[in-house]
Formats: sequence, structure tokens, C-alpha cells
Amino acid sequence: MDQHAMDRYIKSMIKEAGHRIRNSFLSDISVDTKAHANDLVTNVDKEVEQFFIRHIREDFPTHRVFGEEGFGDNIEELSGTVWLLDPIDGTMNFVHQRRNFAISLGIYEDGVGKMGYIYDVVNDDLYHAIEGGGAYYNDERLMPLFETAINESIIGMNAMWATPNRFVDHEATIRLVHDVRGMRSYGSAALELAYLASGRIDAYISMRLAPWDIAGGMVMAKEVGAVASTFSGGPINLLESDTFVAANPSIHGKLINEYIKPKHP
Ligand code: IPD
Ligand code: CA
Ligand code: CA
Ligand code: CA
Repeated sequence: MDQHAMDRYIKSMIKEAGHRIRNSFLSDISVDTKAHANDLVTNVDKEVEQFFIRHIREDFPTHRVFGEEGFGDNIEELSGTVWLLDPIDGTMNFVHQRRNFAISLGIYEDGVGKMGYIYDVVNDDLYHAIEGGGAYYNDERLMPLFETAINESIIGMNAMWATPNRFVDHEATIRLVHDVRGMRSYGSAALELAYLASGRIDAYISMRLAPWDIAGGMVMAKEVGAVASTFSGGPINLLESDTFVAANPSIHGKLINEYIKPKHP
């Protein structure tokens, strides 16, 4: 399948999955917890992941899937074609708000991001990017990010990061909150990366993200010139969870050097 056919195939699968998610609002959703009381998962997260995997295994038997809910393959390296899938990113929003969540998908070949998709299910907004082919918000091509400054930036960040924590110097975080134009906390890493790529926020910072949270968004971010790294400025490893900062290139260095000082670099 060439890249255009693959893109059409993926979009139609994502739209179908979105349809299933919207339909799930009509029946009871069963909510469970995972690592702790606020780490939610539902039958819909699991069913949507299984829906994708069924199709991928049937139509691309040599590809592997790295999915949050564990129905995919046991991924220890990224050789070949790997689909990194978060069936619902923002499960807490899905359960409590029935909006502000997304399907997130990144397709990597030998560790290189080739295609990225983030689908805002309730608004029927699809963001996508193809390596070297640009990033799009529905049919609209996204422009390379304009230069900005810290005092004119809106930063997406989980509020937990503003509390004392083991990763960053607390005084520096408080300074960041003072110095920027505004802070936002949307509760879906994938949507926040789509907002970064479309210039609605200028950076997204998180203390801990998993590969499937960011795989699709990383392809998108790169296409518009955004820069992503760990808090210490190192490259993102898509096999493990780690700290994460993705930003407009004109503020990424300053964010890391002047505000995000890792306590344990
Ligand atoms: C979560 C969301 C949230 C982020 C968490 C993620 P999930 O994903 O992206 O915004 O702060 O770290 O785990 O569990 O809802 O797929
Ligand atoms: Ca989860
Ligand atoms: Ca997620
Ligand atoms: Ca999820």
C-alpha cells in the first residue's frame, strides 16, 4: 500500500473508531482503575484498541502495535513498522466530561516517525502529519510556527507540575507561571500536542508521558518546526515513559535552561 492509500485507510479506520466512541455514550460505560484511584480505564478504551489491532493484524500482518491497553505486541525495540496507539488519550475527560479526549496514533519505521494522527472525537477534528509532507488540521495545512517569546507564550501543563516535585526546581516553576502570558491544562497530551502544532499553545510540558501519548504528536510537531526533548534536553525515547517538553523552537532552549532545571539530570 503506498503512503496515500495508507493515509486514506488510517483516516477511515480512525473515523470509524470515533463513531464507535460517540455511540458508547448511548450505553453504560464501565470504569475501572489501573495504577491508582485517578488512573481510569473503561471498556471503551479496551474495545477501541482491539478494533484497531484487529484491522492492522489483518491488513498489515508484518506490522507491530504498541498500544496502551496491552492488546498489541510486546515491543522492546522499534525495528520495522510499529503503530503506537493510544485508543483514548484523556480517559478522565472521556469519563467525566465526554469531550476533550482524542485517539492518538503514530506510525514509525525503524524508529522514525512517518505518519501521525490525533482525532478530537467529539469535535470531529482530525489533525495529521506525514513526514516531509506537512501537518494538517482537517484539510487546512498548518504553517511553520512563528517566533514567539516567553512573555507572549501560552504553556500547556498539568497542574500537578506546579506543586513541589522531584523533577524540577519549584522556584523556577513558579517563575515560569509568573513570566508566561498564560497556563492551560487540557488533560490530553495528544490534544495538547495538536494545539502546539496548530499554534494554539506554544509549549506542552509533562513530568511523565508514555510513548503512545506522544508518538502521533511528535510527527506533527516536527512538521511545523516544534522541538521535543526530555527535561534535561535529551532525545525522546519511544520505548519508555519520561519527562517531556515540546515547544515552539524560539522558546524551547529558554524553557529548559531557565525554567526546567532537572534535579536529577
Ligand atoms: C493521560 C493524558 C493526560 C496526561 C497523562 C496521560 P490517558 O493519558 O494524556 O493528559 O497528563 O500523563 O497518561 O491515560 O488518558 O490515555
Ligand atoms: Ca490511561
Ligand atoms: Ca494517554
Ligand atoms: Ca489512553
